[in-house]
Amino acid sequence: MNNIMFKKSTLFAAIAVLLLAVFSGFNGKKETVVEGAGRPILIQGPMPIEAENFAQKLEKVKVEKSGTFVFYKGKLNNYPVIVVKTGKGMENTAAATAVAIEKYNPIAIINQGTSGGHDPSLNVFDIVLGKRTTNIGSLKTETKNVKEGMDPSQWIPMDLMASEGSGSDPNAEKVRYYEGDKDLLAAANAVKDKYTKGKVVEGTIGSADVWNNEVDRIKWFHEKYGTSVEEMEGAAAAQIADAYKVPFLGIRILSNNKTNGGAYNPNTAAANQEYVYEVVKKYISTIQSK
Ligand code: 5AD
Repeated sequence: MNNIMFKKSTLFAAIAVLLLAVFSGFNGKKETVVEGAGRPILIQGPMPIEAENFAQKLEKVKVEKSGTFVFYKGKLNNYPVIVVKTGKGMENTAAATAVAIEKYNPIAIINQGTSGGHDPSLNVFDIVLGKRTTNIGSLKTETKNVKEGMDPSQWIPMDLMASEGSGSDPNAEKVRYYEGDKDLLAAANAVKDKYTKGKVVEGTIGSADVWNNEVDRIKWFHEKYGTSVEEMEGAAAAQIADAYKVPFLGIRILSNNKTNGGAYNPNTAAANQEYVYEVVKKYISTIQSK
């Protein structure tokens, strides 16, 4: 009798273990998150000079590649942090963001790197925290007939996320802003005194696959969209982060500013990573105290 009972309970236990193993394999997540406590923080940089300095600061780094995207998976103060070299531009950034979210399930995303000033009061080495990030390449032109020419100052902002309808939708004729996450902004503001190479301000980051050197056009964006700086990635990452509801912040240093003669300086890329490193340490401490 005892023997039968023992056999039955062993059988039930074996079935339970088997079911657990089967179901945990079908829980919908493609890969387990980085080992250890907590979901990783994802730091994006487009060019090698905008990602590799930060990656070198991580401990226990493992490098993984997906397409042309390079992920440096490591630890900062024992917390999982992943630096990704996305490549330049909106398409690379959107794809690298989606891949990272699906593969690594990040708790937050910081897109950082260099930028060009739209605000004449900002100088090379100043840093803009993206209270808002917006796509400045998504536009609809006026209708003009043959020989009537073209006039970019009359182009209309087009919000691609306003509806699923066609381009004639009047509700789409507006600028879409992605809000910077308030906890990431708080962490960034909390450490701004540690940055001594320029000032750190909140502002609006504009992104497109365009490098604008026409000062009148830059002024047009500054007035119409309120842009502080332009670059080529932030809004792509912000849009995908928003689609998955992952907290997001853009942090951009000015490497050039056409509006006040600020000449391009590539050393700004490293300076920004130093500052973002402080922001991430602060953010980790706030997550851990929750
Ligand atoms: N306009 C556009 N992109 C800029 N970048 C730096 N300054 C500017 C600017 N004035 C960044 C982009 C891209 C690379 C060409 O440099 O984000 O990654």
